Amino acid sequence: MRILVIGSGGREHALVWKIAQSKLVDKIFCAPGNGGITKIAECIDIKAEDIPALFEFAKKEKIDLTVVGPEVPLAAGIVDEFKNYGLKIFGPGRKAAQLEASKVFAKELMAKYNVPTAAFEIFDNVDESNKYIKKIGAPCVIKAGGLAAGKGVVVAKTVDQARQAVEAMMREKIFGSAGDKIIIEECLQGEEASILVITDSKEVIALALAQDHKRVFDNDQGANTGGMGAYSPAPIVTKELFKEILEKVIYRTIDGLEKEGIDYRGVLYAGIMITKDGPKTLEFNVRFGDPETQVIIPRLKSDLVEVMLAACAGKLSRIKSLDWDNQACVCVVLASQGYPGNYEKGKEIFGLDKVEKMKGVSVFHAGTKIRIINDVGQRQESEYLTNGGRVLGVTGLGDTIKNAIDSTYQAVGKISFEGMHYRKDIGRKALE
Ligand code: AMP
Ligand code: GLY
Repeated sequence: MRILVIGSGGREHALVWKIAQSKLVDKIFCAPGNGGITKIAECIDIKAEDIPALFEFAKKEKIDLTVVGPEVPLAAGIVDEFKNYGLKIFGPGRKAAQLEASKVFAKELMAKYNVPTAAFEIFDNVDESNKYIKKIGAPCVIKAGGLAAGKGVVVAKTVDQARQAVEAMMREKIFGSAGDKIIIEECLQGEEASILVITDSKEVIALALAQDHKRVFDNDQGANTGGMGAYSPAPIVTKELFKEILEKVIYRTIDGLEKEGIDYRGVLYAGIMITKDGPKTLEFNVRFGDPETQVIIPRLKSDLVEVMLAACAGKLSRIKSLDWDNQACVCVVLASQGYPGNYEKGKEIFGLDKVEKMKGVSVFHAGTKIRIINDVGQRQESEYLTNGGRVLGVTGLGDTIKNAIDSTYQAVGKISFEGMHYRKDIGRKALE
């Protein structure tokens, strides 16, 4: 089979790495990919959002299966477009992708189908928002209704902060039309966990549990990021709790969508807060998480391509269960200085060759590019340069979380680039 993976992050590198191990696969393309992906797939210079160009490429190259990494093309309807022409593609269609693209849609669906979530109200004007903030007081959470690249949530500690967030989203339009409607909701307390499943609307297959670290500095301090590291499994979610989340969140959501006439095929990711009143849904994503995928995929022993094909065909019942490695997995993200704010690119990355030799360690590239420095005959020499905020995801397996943490940080110690920043406490929560 010929596979096209769309995206350019650590998630996509992990997916390409896994897909490359499938017996079903002959050739992998990645659009646009990154420096690390270049080694295992042919990277093509088409942006993940350029649906017409991706479509033309898939037709011309006779792609048998396209796998979509990021949410933007899903929300823009890439799946509908491909399917209309009979091209196989893994991911939800435009309507289903609203679960992530529109927090208003997601909250209304949750309310209608009794999916546990924070108490909320939806607003489209500043005065009404402020009245409500005055009524519920702080802390409270202000969320932009539309897609804001993971930055549209403000957990306000004071009424003033809440008002400022409303002002920024609704009047200053810092997220453009994504702030036309906002959600103001109750602030939940607890531990967070990510539940990812693959579904074809009828059957659900859960992936291994993972936990993300969203803040930029140790001990969950500093700004929210796309994710600074992750670990799997997540011991906070007991078997009973997992069952409860599947029943109350995942099944109710998929059934609710079906009742609305929306078929969901692909990955459904629920961000959950485990509160003293039980699990509550913080958000949905309609795709694999990043960096959760980097710790889930190395533990998966089954053929991912088979599962994705079954989900696309609506025949997920064919897959009885997934086979998992009992080892724990930890991923530490190495970021550019300044991320998630402004940062410089083009710094040379050292030490990757040393880590390549380590057993049980993989480095998934995110913001990197490759530069060929010497291309004479058979001997090609190249170097990697930083090319984004999150640069690398160093990922290690171990018999226990503790061992996985140790081997991952050992590998991290061998890598360097100017301004490299990473958290030193990834996985520590799992030990407590
Ligand atoms: P979201 O994109 O909706 O998951 O929000 C991003 C982050 O904001 C979450 O991972 C939580 O840490 C935090 N958050 C979102 N909603 C709430 C809430 N209702 N209460 C407390 N924290 C929240
Ligand atoms: N790590 C969070 C996300 O993928 O949205």
